[in-house]
Amino acid sequence: MQRKRNLWQTICTSVSALAEKPNALPHEAPIKPLLPLYLILIFCAGLGTSSAWAGQPLLFSHAKHTQELGLGCAVCHLYFTSQTNAGVPSNPTCQACHLIPLGSSEEEKKLVRMLQTGLPIQWERVTRLPRHVRYSHSRHVGYARIPCVTCHGEIEKSSQPITRPLVFLDMNFCIRCHRQPQLALTQTAFAGLEQANFKQDKLERLQSYIAIPFRQNQELAQLLKDENFSLAEQKQVTTQMTPVPSISTDCMNCHR
Ligand code: HEC
Ligand code: HEC
Ligand code: HEC
Ligand code: HEC
Ligand code: HEC
Repeated sequence: MQRKRNLWQTICTSVSALAEKPNALPHEAPIKPLLPLYLILIFCAGLGTSSAWAGQPLLFSHAKHTQELGLGCAVCHLYFTSQTNAGVPSNPTCQACHLIPLGSSEEEKKLVRMLQTGLPIQWERVTRLPRHVRYSHSRHVGYARIPCVTCHGEIEKSSQPITRPLVFLDMNFCIRCHRQPQLALTQTAFAGLEQANFKQDKLERLQSYIAIPFRQNQELAQLLKDENFSLAEQKQVTTQMTPVPSISTDCMNCHR
């Protein structure tokens, strides 16, 4: 029985991997020739053995580390403010806490054994743009302070590695924000002010201006004066409001 299950597991994993790679199949694949494949997939869904996180070396839980333990993303993804890549964690990052087992889970014991070998843990990259597209975390997170959740969804709630991006990062997704970056940036600013317990009524007054592209700080400064914000409040708002850059939607901005 065990053997049989393993066989099915292998078949299911490879079939679902094939189905997940859109490029591995012709785009508008006719249903008929692929029917056996779909049938196996349906069977696998029923069997529940198509290990959802196959491909990753460990069952890593974001929920455990971010929501339960309260670790910030920067503990493990070191570079998002300064570099193009956010960075997938390397062994020393995990070793800082997992030199010896902290709990009793099997998965953690496996981790400790892996760390002891000294070989780098091979995390599989899931979110990846085609090579012809340029993208930089430092521009989006470091400068524009766009929260991770905008592009990666609520990954902090997942208790196992994702097998596909939670947000569909196609070209439209990028361009939609680039056409009106003020929406994302003012939203971020409001979230920051709310967190700093900014006066609610004044926050609401500001919110009614959300559609104004705060392209220049002067424009915002004038608005704050007209609305009788105190000097301290003005300062708070202007430090939160990133001046909206004009981003051209020129093809070559994103493509090389
Ligand atoms: C304790 C370490 C740790 C923390 C803290 C952490 N991550 Fe991760 N993250 C990982 C590991 C390990 C992986 C690779 C395995 C996986 O996908 O679960 C990963 C993968 C990811 C991926 C997928 C990368 C890909 O290849 O597609 C995203 C996106 C991500 N993390 C975002 C976040 C965000 C956002 C936060 C903060 C809310 C965060 N992470 C906090 C360790 C961490
Ligand atoms: C700041 C400390 C810290 C760091 C850094 C850290 N962990 Fe953990 N991790 C913990 C704690 C605490 C637990 C909970 C142990 C317990 O009580 O079971 C845990 C649990 C786990 C478990 C057990 C499974 C589970 O969900 O309960 C795994 C697997 C794991 N961590 C993997 C990793 C990996 C991989 C990295 C590096 C990318 C990492 N951790 C980085 C503190 C950390
Ligand atoms: C504006 C959208 C956007 C935001 C905001 C964003 N990311 Fe990403 N992230 C991406 C894209 C696009 C990729 C794939 C990049 C590639 O393939 O070149 C990616 C890739 C990743 C990866 C894979 C490995 C790597 O080194 O790039 C991790 C991990 C990650 N992001 C974590 C984060 C974290 C943590 C945050 C918040 C601090 C964040 N991202 C904010 C769009 C975003
Ligand atoms: C939620 C809003 C948002 C999303 C989504 C977004 N961007 Fe951006 N992007 C910005 C902002 C704001 C800037 C300007 C940052 C700066 O000036 O440093 C920017 C700048 C850029 C730049 C530099 C442009 C230049 O003029 O030099 C590139 C390239 C880029 N983004 C690519 C992407 C790609 C590719 C995606 C999709 C995977 C994406 N962006 C998704 C808001 C966004
Ligand atoms: C804001 C960034 C951005 C801009 C501006 C942009 N693209 Fe893209 N483009 C992308 C991303 C991201 C992808 C990859 C989408 C994916 O993987 O599904 C892409 C993919 C493509 C593809 C390949 C489609 C495919 O199915 O793989 C073509 C062709 C393309 N873009 C043409 C253009 C042209 C022409 C322009 C100018 C009118 C343009 N792009 C402007 C981000 C951008």
